[in-house]
Amino acid sequence: MTPRRRTALITGGIGGFGLALARLLLGRDFTVALADLDVEQGQKVAEELDVLFIPLDVGDLAANHRAVALVESHYNALDAVFLNAGIVGRQDPTAPLDMKAYEAILDANLHGVTYGIDAAKPALRRAGGGRIVVTASLAGLVPMPGDPLYSMTKSAALAYSRAIAPHLAEQGITLSIVCPGFADTPLIGPMRSAFEDAGFPILTADDVAAALLLAHDEAEAGSAYVVQPGSPPMPYRFRNVPAARDPSGASVAVPTGLSAHSPAGEPGQPS
Ligand SMILES: NC(=O)c1ccc[n+]([C@@H]2O[C@H](COP(=O)([O-])OP(=O)(O)OC[C@H]3O[C@@H](n4cnc5c(N)ncnc54)[C@H](O)[C@@H]3O)[C@@H](O)[C@H]2O)c1
Repeated sequence: MTPRRRTALITGGIGGFGLALARLLLGRDFTVALADLDVEQGQKVAEELDVLFIPLDVGDLAANHRAVALVESHYNALDAVFLNAGIVGRQDPTAPLDMKAYEAILDANLHGVTYGIDAAKPALRRAGGGRIVVTASLAGLVPMPGDPLYSMTKSAALAYSRAIAPHLAEQGITLSIVCPGFADTPLIGPMRSAFEDAGFPILTADDVAAALLLAHDEAEAGSAYVVQPGSPPMPYRFRNVPAARDPSGASVAVPTGLSAHSPAGEPGQPS
């Protein structure tokens, strides 16, 4: 019996990384569904690639569930989900908080991940296990003063992904994270020429798509890859935090029940 084609859902699927990834996956004999907020462009791209397009605001939990149900009904199964939609902060960091912009970035960059995982989980389990790859950012690992809300949401998405990954792994779902540096997509907007003027190298969308595919193929649960120009994607090694110490000064591990999902070297484990 020939094995069935695997199906992947990509959110932010018609943006720079999403589209480059879709092309890679199609070349690998995946069936692809693209989900995005931009319906007009989405339908155009989907027609070109002959794939399913799903209008989706990732900040809407019910819509995430509907998108997954649509992929399952269309392709019979869902094997891989790339939670990749995202936006930059749309406000001056020194100005009073603009609640509309604040909620928009939380929706796209954080809820897009928490809601996306919630929606994908049952379908991936039904497919016998599967993969989730989250597009975070280097800005989630190092502060980005130019866009604090972007840093915050990417950091939160990264933390949530790492913490939920062991639970997903128990259900046969491997979740990993990719943290790209600056890349040449519409997201960086006018920053592009500043990088060019400064001679600062930036990634291509294809570089990042290759890293997303690598994470899909090879990553361990909860691992994060850093992608920077001039180097292959690198697994990021998170540093230990100082351990708790008892009155004698000996380091003490977090009780097993409370740290059951903390792999060695994670916070709570003596270093
Ligand atoms: N380009 C970079 O320098 C860079 C670096 C690190 C991380 N990232 C992250 O990579 C991901 C992809 O970004 P990109 O560079 O391809 O940007 P992009 O702007 O080309 O693509 C982002 C896509 O997400 C879609 N989107 C935005 N909000 C959405 C929502 N609420 N629901 C559904 N879709 C939505 C947009 O319509 C767009 O098609 C984002 O999460 C971004 O934060 C980008």
